[in-house]
Amino acid sequence: MTSGVNRVVVVGAGFVGSSYAYALVNQGITEELVLIDVNQEKAEGEVMDLNHGRYFYESPAKVWSGDYHDCKEADIVCITAGVSQSDEETRLSAVEKNTSIVKSIVDSVMASGFNGIFLISTNPVDIITQATWTFSGLPKERVIGSGTILDTARYLHMLGEYFSVDPKSINGYIIGEHGDSQVAALSNAAIGGKNVMDILNASDRYMLKDLEKMAANVRDIADVVIEKKGSTYYGIGAGLAKITKAILKNENTVLPVSALLDGEYGFQDIFAGVPAIINRQGVQEIIEVDLNKEEKDKLASSIEVLRSAMKPLPK
Ligand code: 2OP
Repeated sequence: MTSGVNRVVVVGAGFVGSSYAYALVNQGITEELVLIDVNQEKAEGEVMDLNHGRYFYESPAKVWSGDYHDCKEADIVCITAGVSQSDEETRLSAVEKNTSIVKSIVDSVMASGFNGIFLISTNPVDIITQATWTFSGLPKERVIGSGTILDTARYLHMLGEYFSVDPKSINGYIIGEHGDSQVAALSNAAIGGKNVMDILNASDRYMLKDLEKMAANVRDIADVVIEKKGSTYYGIGAGLAKITKAILKNENTVLPVSALLDGEYGFQDIFAGVPAIINRQGVQEIIEVDLNKEEKDKLASSIEVLRSAMKPLPK
């Protein structure tokens, strides 16, 4: 399948693709990195710029601008290409356009003889990941979407500020659609193993309504960033790099990604954001966290939103 040297191919050298590429080389996550873009000049320019930092990276990667033939030996092909939404639109608004863009990419990648793992960040990411799984014919564990990894990171960042705790010491997830119907699984969030609800009950300083406000803020904050700077890319670039590291280093890290539900949480045949063990095989196992009744209902609505937004796939 691969040459024994870790290779990541990024399709789409826009803001998200190039932020991801930078996170990969800066953290020394892959040995080879290939950038592909319909605008070849853009890919070439990004490669030059990335290579100019090579002297400073921990363990320098070989980086070049390539074509779909480079996917044959790739361990991971990450698709970031597609149109993005304005602050007035939802992520779902790009579904048709991005499905057809991603179809032509996946067809070209598969024609190379690629047999690795697809990582997808193109929005609406759950639906586009599901389409990639169908178009590619790869096993479900080898098609992964960035899902709610960024929402979860935003949530942990906000909780960290609120409780004055390092976000890495907090366990908690946003699940469901990477979009407006996402669900904050507040009932099982924990700090250092102590349930957040118990912390709230034992203190007058911390309030459930603040946490609920935070969850709404997580849901809406991409629009705020888009309004201020046009698009979001550093956060998702770092999140994609984290998933890539878990795969290439066979870490068995639990990360909230978009994975195919096959009975987990009571749903079938749908990709949605859920915590999952990620390793060299891709999605090793989906973790079913305990949800209260309200969260279960919200997750069911979120799955429904995804199902109704799906369009028949182009042949
Ligand atoms: C984000 O959440 C827009 O999906 C992108 O930043």
